[in-house]
Amino acid sequence: MEFSTKAGTPEKLKSACVIVGVYADKKLSPSAGMIDAASKGALSKAIKNGDQTGKRATTLLLHGIPGILAERVLLVGLGPQNELNDKAYAEIVRAAIKAAAATAAPDALFTLTEASVAGRNVQENVRTAIVLAREIDYRFDQHKSKKDTPATLTRILFPTDKSNAKDTAAGLADGVALANGIDLTKNLGNMPPNFCTPSYLADTARKLAREFGGGKLKVEVLEKKQMEALKMGSLLSVAKGSIEPPKLIVLKYNGGNAKDAPVVLVGKGITFDSGGISLKPGEAMDEMKYDMCGAASVLGTLRAIAEMKLKLNVIGVIPTCENMPAGNAVKPGDIVTSMSGQTIEILNTDAEGRLILCDALTYTERFKPSAVIDIATLTGACIIALGHINTGLFSPHDELADEILAAAKSANDPAWRLPVQEEYQDQLKSNFADMANIGGRPAGSTTAACFLARYTKAYKWAHLDIAGTAWKSGAAKGATGRPVSLLTEFLKQRAKT
Ligand code: BES
Ligand code: MN
Ligand code: ZN
Repeated sequence: MEFSTKAGTPEKLKSACVIVGVYADKKLSPSAGMIDAASKGALSKAIKNGDQTGKRATTLLLHGIPGILAERVLLVGLGPQNELNDKAYAEIVRAAIKAAAATAAPDALFTLTEASVAGRNVQENVRTAIVLAREIDYRFDQHKSKKDTPATLTRILFPTDKSNAKDTAAGLADGVALANGIDLTKNLGNMPPNFCTPSYLADTARKLAREFGGGKLKVEVLEKKQMEALKMGSLLSVAKGSIEPPKLIVLKYNGGNAKDAPVVLVGKGITFDSGGISLKPGEAMDEMKYDMCGAASVLGTLRAIAEMKLKLNVIGVIPTCENMPAGNAVKPGDIVTSMSGQTIEILNTDAEGRLILCDALTYTERFKPSAVIDIATLTGACIIALGHINTGLFSPHDELADEILAAAKSANDPAWRLPVQEEYQDQLKSNFADMANIGGRPAGSTTAACFLARYTKAYKWAHLDIAGTAWKSGAAKGATGRPVSLLTEFLKQRAKT
């Protein structure tokens, strides 16, 4: 789907479909008003006869409206003006794009970005509209011999005048870059695990470095030998049972001054989590292909900010391997030594995410980061706590936590803070090593975060548990692309200060 701006007023621009709004009190949006005037009251008539009441997210398609250059008018209900918040706006945009896509129109003139949404400006409205349109347009049919029906609606135009041209263009560039990042994250997540291997993730990072960022994106991939030299005994213990070689991907985006401390994003990249010797039950085990969504969100975010040419230094660190059972796989009871020197008694091989992250987090110290955020489909317990609405946020640093929560809100990509406190560390006690890799059933997400906290003392750190938000199950099974929006917004705010 292509997006562009076009100078002019909606009644004088040519299009296959112009999308305009009407409020619940029957008040027309400015663009609807212009079309109504040019057509000598055609829209007012449809409202008067009750075909469009202004009820939120309802649509009415009109043909042959005189006095305008559009072939169709889609009149969209905006609901009560004082209730137009983020949620309502998203609902309205989705309904409008879906209704326009259901017609034969190849292009649409989209004017709903002019609505005043509580706490939002035109630039944000345009960005949100693009991200939602791309979400509706998204398909993953590479592996189907009969492809899904292609979309007929392929071009969306935003009309501009002097007052909003700059903001609309900025929102457009932002929205397209963000949607491209989200799509990359979704594609990697949805890709079957026999295709999306650690080597494939490494190749994807190399491709990004070649194609984006105008030389500002550089990649290094550490192989098993180098991880051995670094004494990453914890990460390597997880990879042991698989024939796929593990990788540690380091992707650096140098958008800021050379001397500025980078933000580091660390993403869990388990390309398939069978549980290992502590084998998972068979039901829905296929969904453990999504256990690399943390890694995918790091790649997607770096792609987005490189396309936005953000003025900030950001490093993506991705430990990636498979977690498989095998004769040579790591076993419950095994004790391994992490790169930090701390020893770990592995009591459950299915708590593998923290085992690969801890070595990546220790490795990250060398970048002297201004902040580190790790992103991981870490615990089923996080789904029990927060469901599929909020990403779990854990951080001992209040300021960093608040910054992330603000970005989550601004990006419509919600997160909720949960505790990571000393008091829970007792649950990780081991009789035979410095710590165990599991802390029992109570507060399972917190004890996982507490495990990571033991490896992140050298810098400001936050952990995002995306187990409940990275993908959807059931009929709508598929990756969501979260939390690319949150992370991109966080970095955008950092680049400003
Ligand atoms: N990748 C899983 C977490 C997960 C499970 C995410 C289900 C989304 C849906 C992780 O590696 C895992 O298996 N965690 C265990 C930890 C337990 C053994 C302490 C879990 O949550 O059951
Ligand atoms: Mn697991
Ligand atoms: Zn896992």
